[in-house]
Amino acid sequence: MSSTLTVLKTPPERPSSRPSAAIPFLKLEAIQKQFGPYSVLHDVSFEMAKGEVVAIIGPSGSGKSTLLRCINQLEPPTKGRVSMDGVQIEAGRPLPKAQLLKLRRRIGMVFQSFNLFPHLTVLQNVSLAQVRTLGRSRQEADARSLQLLDRVGLADKAGHYPARCSGGQQQRIAIARALALEPELMLFDEPTSALDPELGLEVLAVMKELAREGMSMIVVTHEMNFAETVSDRVVVMAEGRIIEQGPSVEVMRHPRHERVIKFLQAVRDR
Ligand SMILES: Nc1ncnc2c1ncn2[C@@H]1O[C@H](COP(=O)(O)OP(=O)(O)OP(=O)(O)O)[C@@H](O)[C@H]1O
Ligand SMILES: [Mg+2]
Repeated sequence: MSSTLTVLKTPPERPSSRPSAAIPFLKLEAIQKQFGPYSVLHDVSFEMAKGEVVAIIGPSGSGKSTLLRCINQLEPPTKGRVSMDGVQIEAGRPLPKAQLLKLRRRIGMVFQSFNLFPHLTVLQNVSLAQVRTLGRSRQEADARSLQLLDRVGLADKAGHYPARCSGGQQQRIAIARALALEPELMLFDEPTSALDPELGLEVLAVMKELAREGMSMIVVTHEMNFAETVSDRVVVMAEGRIIEQGPSVEVMRHPRHERVIKFLQAVRDR
């Protein structure tokens, strides 16, 4: 049995030892996002500490993906400020390109669709950006890729092409690829929602392990169990706003906001 699946049985350490949110690692201040005439995010403010795991949940169209994309500036906010560990980006005043690329490199992102290159092997997929972006030699990159593939339980797939890997394996390769750039923050946008439940579990196990190791993570998810048991904090969005946030167990078991109660009920009845 792969190490990944063993991890699944070991509950992650609870985050009592995690740093407090008193020293924000990431801070969003009054973020607004408009697409033409449509206002999609209204005044979203949020902070997280290094090493925290935050789950973002909420109904479809509430702005969860847009918020993630505002953090790494894939979608520049219309108003507001994003600060990450000393770097500040004010809406309307974009960073110079080199600085923006530097910031993006510190933030790994994993999407619902894995976006692997079909004509490259698994190893080449994980190594490519290390050579191009970090300037590692092919040999160094491959050595690091093999370590990471081992970490996600897929060392034996290094020479395969993505098409010969299951969806869960492809998503784990995408995670290894993101980790290869040594990010300080990982953003996950519904990483398991395109997968059968069993394959989703393999991916969640890898994410649990990352959380246990202290990676700072923001995870947009419909996996309520993950939100409750792995994340430190849950943020609930509706209609472009954060309507509730707090320690995960509190929000998931004793939500206060009527809209959150309704949403959680709907998800559980699914
Ligand atoms: N590029 C765009 N142009 C115009 N509108 C957009 C664009 N991207 C997102 N939107 C709109 O912004 C709103 C929020 O979308 P977003 O994808 O952030 O929601 P979400 O919470 O991630 O939803 P889901 O759970 O379905 O993924 C939606 O109404 C969507 O149609
Ligand atoms: Mg989305």
